[in-house]
Amino acid sequence: MADPVYLILVVFHIACAATSFGITLPSGPSLRRAIGQSRDVKVAMHVAAMRAGRLSDIFGLLTFATGLALIFNRFGGFKNVPMTINAAMGLILVMIALGAFFMRPLGIKIGAAIDQGDDAWRASLKPFAMGNGIMSLLWFVILVLMFIKPS
Ligand code: HEM
Repeated sequence: MADPVYLILVVFHIACAATSFGITLPSGPSLRRAIGQSRDVKVAMHVAAMRAGRLSDIFGLLTFATGLALIFNRFGGFKNVPMTINAAMGLILVMIALGAFFMRPLGIKIGAAIDQGDDAWRASLKPFAMGNGIMSLLWFVILVLMFIKPS
């Protein structure tokens, strides 16, 4: 039977990665659906999207932490780590930085557009949607890297 510590770590790792990805998926569509709606709806959608972003950051960090633990459990440290895992480590750091320095300011701009009418609201959603697309692409690349096992 596989090492139980490995099994627990890998299940937790995958659950954190999936949560970090999935929790932000409804944000874009919900913010778009608020176009033409009252101020209260916009505020509620904005609060929900910002909260989802914060939770996604936390689960992204947990994915990173469990990934590091797996490096020690599975490969006995950094010396024997395959290139694919090193690349994943770099990419998730890029994602964490993008979340903090790109997506969060965009979220704050959406909040500032609440009282500026539907056109400003719609315009503020465009870069946010683009950022979400880039984050999803990076996430998918990391997922693929997890399954490539160079011998
Ligand atoms: C979007 C982020 C990530 C996703 C979706 C993800 C997903 C996965 C999945 C599905 C597995 C199981 C693979 C298998 O059983 O063959 C796995 C294993 C693993 N992940 Fe990640 N991962 C992510 C980020 C990371 C990061 C950043 C690191 C390094 C710090 C990392 C290190 C590992 C390690 C060492 C394993 C065990 C590999 C093995 O048993 O051969 N992961 N990950």
